[in-house]
Amino acid sequence: MSNFFEEQVLSVHHWTDRLFSFTTTRDPGFRFRTGEFTMIGLKVDGRPLLRAYSVVSPAWAETLEFFSIKVPNGPLTSRLQHIQVGDAITVGRKATGTLVMDNLLPGKNLYLLGTGTGLAPFLSVIRDPETYERFEKVVLVHGCRHVADLAYEDLITKELPAHEFLGEEIAAKLLYYPTVTREPFRNTGRISTLLESGKLCADVGLPPLDAAADRVMICGSPAMMVDLKTLLESRGFTEGSGSEPGHFVIEKAFAER
Ligand code: A2P
Repeated sequence: MSNFFEEQVLSVHHWTDRLFSFTTTRDPGFRFRTGEFTMIGLKVDGRPLLRAYSVVSPAWAETLEFFSIKVPNGPLTSRLQHIQVGDAITVGRKATGTLVMDNLLPGKNLYLLGTGTGLAPFLSVIRDPETYERFEKVVLVHGCRHVADLAYEDLITKELPAHEFLGEEIAAKLLYYPTVTREPFRNTGRISTLLESGKLCADVGLPPLDAAADRVMICGSPAMMVDLKTLLESRGFTEGSGSEPGHFVIEKAFAER
């Protein structure tokens, strides 16, 4: 059996000149846990050129979705950004990753902290009914340089609260907090700064971060991950893994593309 599925591109959406998303067919045999990533890519000169991508779509969806940056001269994304409906995409059979619910201890509030394309796994998390069974509030924080980088805002703020099956839970429990660092916006500043000062929790109407109540998933650049890990550990949070669940889990937003 091959380690890969050959899927077909169903749609492509360019958010900015640096960001795009696309959907593909999904082999019924492709299984993943919410929050995981897999290797995807293109065949170049007959050989697969693959990178890790978090699955954006929920586990229950019949199609797959991915969110990508466009790296100038990037081996994969300089090609991938030109894909068209009907093109073939290689998708690895085996999904994996740490941003999964089972790696977290039970808690009250779930904070999902993503910068840039680090938002991707959380778009799957916020569409998993189990997320709302486990947590009272789910705070989705997306940090970007520019307002135009705040991809998926309409999905999060308009489509999901009106969703046929999940809408009621989402409207009651999901809090979306976009923040921008390089131009004026209603929320500005880095996620780390906003958490450190207590502004983020106050703005969404929740008490200050507390390891007894709060669970955190982090996905972003290496520098962002280090800053947030340091901040959380200084407040008594421990990192969770497959072998031992904890107060937070962390994964690099894959950028070398
Ligand atoms: P900034 O504009 O101050 O660098 P990038 O596109 O470089 O991955 O950045 C995405 C977002 O993450 C930007 O808003 C950026 O802010 C922010 N960011 C960069 N480094 C950190 C960090 N160490 N902690 C928190 N946020 C960060």
